[in-house]
Order: sequence, then structure tokens, then C-alpha cells
Amino acid sequence: MFDKTTIRDIDPKNKNILVRTDFNVPIKDGQVTSDFRLRAALPTIQYLIDRQANHIILISHLGRPKGQADPSLSLAPVARKLSLLLNRPVTFIPHLTGSLIKDQIDSLPQGSVVLLENLRFSAAEEENSLDFAREIVHSTSADLYVQDGFAVIHRAHASTAQIPQLLPTVAGFLIEKEVTNLSQVLQHPKPQVTVIIGGAKISDKQPLIDRFLPIADHILVVGKIAADGYVSNDPKIYVAEDFRQDQEGNKLDIGDLSLSKILPTIKYSHTIIWNGTAGKTEEPGFDLSSKAIAEAIGQKNPEYNQTIILGGDTSGYVEKLLEEQPGASLGHVSNPLEYSLISTGGGASLEFLLGLPLPGLDAIN
Ligand code: 3PG
Repeated sequence: MFDKTTIRDIDPKNKNILVRTDFNVPIKDGQVTSDFRLRAALPTIQYLIDRQANHIILISHLGRPKGQADPSLSLAPVARKLSLLLNRPVTFIPHLTGSLIKDQIDSLPQGSVVLLENLRFSAAEEENSLDFAREIVHSTSADLYVQDGFAVIHRAHASTAQIPQLLPTVAGFLIEKEVTNLSQVLQHPKPQVTVIIGGAKISDKQPLIDRFLPIADHILVVGKIAADGYVSNDPKIYVAEDFRQDQEGNKLDIGDLSLSKILPTIKYSHTIIWNGTAGKTEEPGFDLSSKAIAEAIGQKNPEYNQTIILGGDTSGYVEKLLEEQPGASLGHVSNPLEYSLISTGGGASLEFLLGLPLPGLDAIN
């Protein structure tokens, strides 16, 4: 299911390990407002600490600063949050290349975790520059590279496509988990297979519907695409048929009748893939169906079922439900990491499922 060498195949002891993470997280007023991607990266970082790596040097992008330093997109707040999650110091170095980095890393005690500045503050990152990759490897004195930024594997950038040309490269635990789960639903899904597709734009969703038609037993169309009148004559496809409306008559959530058809289907399915919320979840009162779906999926025992939540909006919604209310649970799930997979990849997971090229994954040697 996963045919790349992984972090288990290397001996990190006394080595400088460079790790590509995806810490592209929301930040407001200098604070990380969702730490889901950070927590998803912890197993790899902790493993390297436990295996006595010399220095663990993390690199990531944040937002789209277009090659210019932009203080609002600095990774400094990420270093602070990561330090709390790891319960150990994380040294933030506000540079990407150069002798300053080398000196600072050399002066740190063994086992230190370091985070460099936003890769996209240099245009060379998105230009996929081999020279830039070479400078990062040189400045960090890296011996090995761990690719664990699943959400960015669909980009051909210096950190995804070029550094693996320069260093022995393995996959981290997050990439392994994402790829294993997504491959399993394509290759060996446990029947019955139900795919719930919602969201706003049918042009974005039709490729996913087409991809899953031969695999799924049921495709349930919800959200704005259903409200906008999506039509299909395929007997596998059910389109939500009633809607909750606001005072102006806008259909902002699917209704009770549709939900009463969807929830039993989730109950008897063993594989559930959900992409796209059932309503406009940010409007008070119109997230009832999305919450009911999240709960029904959370009821499934992960030992016998595969539950996968995909796409930035849907994953973000479920994370918010769980993270904003301490102690809250959705079915049995009280932590987003307890679904089989809430993918950290927005575009990356969809491109994986559609079989599109993934330079960051292909480059792992
Ligand atoms: C994401 O959030 O989907 C990834 O971090 C990739 O970001 P990008 O779309 O700006 O390349």
C-alpha cells in the first residue's frame, strides 16, 4: 500500500535531519488559530527526538507571500505553538540560507528542534531552484531528508522536488498515514462504500464523483451543489431533496428528509469518504446536517471502518467543532486524529485520489 522508504528505515542517531513539514496554518494576531497540522506532524518529530537525532531542522511554507518577506506570514508564531505541543524549546531562525544558520545550529545542544523561516519568502522555492535547495542543505549541514509535508506534495518546488535530489530522502509518518489510507479506499475499500460530496462548486466536485462512481456503492450529494439542482440518473447517486432556508429563501443546509436518508446509509457502510459540508456551516443554524454527518461518521468503530474526511473546508469544520469546545465529541471521536484520516491536504489529497502527478511524493527515493 505504501512503497516508499520511511523514517523507520533510517538511523537518525547523531545526524542532522532536515524535515519538510506543512505548517501552512491559520494565524490571527500572531497566534496559530488551528494547530491540527502541527499536531499531525508531532509523531515524526518526536520519533527523531527519541532516536537521538543530532539536530532536527524543520522547514515549511506559510501562505503565498510571492517571494517577499512578509511579517504577517512569518513562521515565528508556529515555532512558539510547536514548542508548547512538544513540551520542549523550538529554536526559530528567521533565515533560510547562509552561515548564520550554520553557526546557530552548531551552537545548539544535541536533540534540538529548529524551525527556519517561511520558505516562500524566497522566490527560489516556488521557482523550484536546485541552487536554493543546495544552499538549504549546506546551511543546515543536513545528512538526511524526511518529507512529511503531505499537503504540499502536489507542488514541484525546491523543498519538494529538488532537496530529494541532494539527500537520501524518506517519508515521515504523516505522509505514510495519508497515502496508506487514501490508497486503501481506491484499491481495497471495505464495502459498503459511501462517498458524501458537498460544497459549492460542481466543477470542482464532478471529477471526484466520476472517480468514485466505479468504486462506491453510494454517492450522496449534499451542500450547495445539491441546492443548485445537481441532477443524476445514476442509481448509485442520491441528491439531497429538501433544504433548510433563510428568510430570503436561500437554501443553506439540507433538510430533515434528506438527512433521514443519509444517516442510515452511513450507519451500514464500512468505508466513508466525506468531502464538502452539507450546508453553509459558518451561518448560525445551518450546520445542523454537517454536524449530524460528522457525528454519524464519528460513531463508526475505527477497527472495522475506514472514515476519511477530505478537503480544507470539511476538515476545518470538523476540527473547529472539536477544538473550539474542549471535551466535545462527535460520536466516539473527541480528537480529529481519531477518524481514520482527516486529511491535512486540501489540494494534495484530491490530486492524489484523481491520480494526478505528485512531484513531492515521486521524489522520495
Ligand atoms: C495547502 O494548504 O493546501 C498547502 O499548504 C499548499 O498550499 P498552496 O496551495 O499555497 O501551495
